[in-house]
Amino acid sequence: MDYRRLEGDLLLEPASATYKYLKVVVPKSKRPYLKSKLFRADLMLTDLRDRISASKESLPFPSARLRSRVHGATGREGFAEVGQRVTDDILRLIADEGRAASQFQSVLDFGCGCGRILRYLSSHMPKAEFFGADIDPEALDWCRSHLPFAKYSLNKENPPMDFADDSFDLIYGISVFTHLDESLQLRWLEELRRVARTGALVITTAHGLSRYEERLKKEQLGQLKKDGILFVRQKMKRDGLPDFYQTTFHTREYIEETWGRYFKVLTYKDRGIDDNQDAIVMTTR
Ligand SMILES: C[S@@+](CC[C@H](N)C(=O)[O-])C[C@H]1O[C@@H](n2cnc3c(N)ncnc32)[C@H](O)[C@@H]1O
Repeated sequence: MDYRRLEGDLLLEPASATYKYLKVVVPKSKRPYLKSKLFRADLMLTDLRDRISASKESLPFPSARLRSRVHGATGREGFAEVGQRVTDDILRLIADEGRAASQFQSVLDFGCGCGRILRYLSSHMPKAEFFGADIDPEALDWCRSHLPFAKYSLNKENPPMDFADDSFDLIYGISVFTHLDESLQLRWLEELRRVARTGALVITTAHGLSRYEERLKKEQLGQLKKDGILFVRQKMKRDGLPDFYQTTFHTREYIEETWGRYFKVLTYKDRGIDDNQDAIVMTTR
């Protein structure tokens, strides 16, 4: 099983493998406790391994705990590889719209987490001023101390953000709308529209049918196809993230119609981000 892909599942490699064997001998009521202990052990071991093996990158890495929060896995290498691949995908999406990455002046990473994308994308846009916004104060504190070339701003559950109207000519939010319910999504789309300059590119992602059709339960799939959107509450709360942060799936038709009321949808690319989430490229109307 590809654990990296299973966002929302708190149990990570190698703890997942250990759990699989131990759970057979542990009563059901004690299994959540076992899971959380294995998760903590995984984080400690990963941080220890990082400390003794040097990284080739000049920028420091966040702790395994912060990485797991955005990434669904603890390892440093996987975090770096996904960050680089997503950066390449964003650059490709920008180029496909006939835009030069070097033209952007003011860039917002909406839901920057601990900077998995920002750390790579910023080097492709040396003239741009970078901003990161997130609801996670711990991740932002880490970014402020370790990725100081960008400015960071803490979001509340609901808009507004601390930015003036028309602030950004590029906004990207990777795997953010994949975690919000519909009403929060609509409020944040409105807010992104407020801070986007005329002609700005806005790149977001969705858990789409191209990847999830075969992974959802039959009733869930039926509901997704009927409503165009499916919000799923996870069994376990995500470490350090609020209760409103769950898992959402979309159909392409829903996004084109509903998000299309806020922005003009230029491109919808199945699995356009890391061959996993669908990519949506939009601009102001
Ligand atoms: C799966 S993580 C992805 C983080 C980052 N985009 C990346 O790809 O590494 C989703 C992020 O969205 C953030 N988030 C959720 N709702 C948000 C909101 N309304 N405003 C800003 N960030 C939000 C979470 O705190 C989390 O850092």
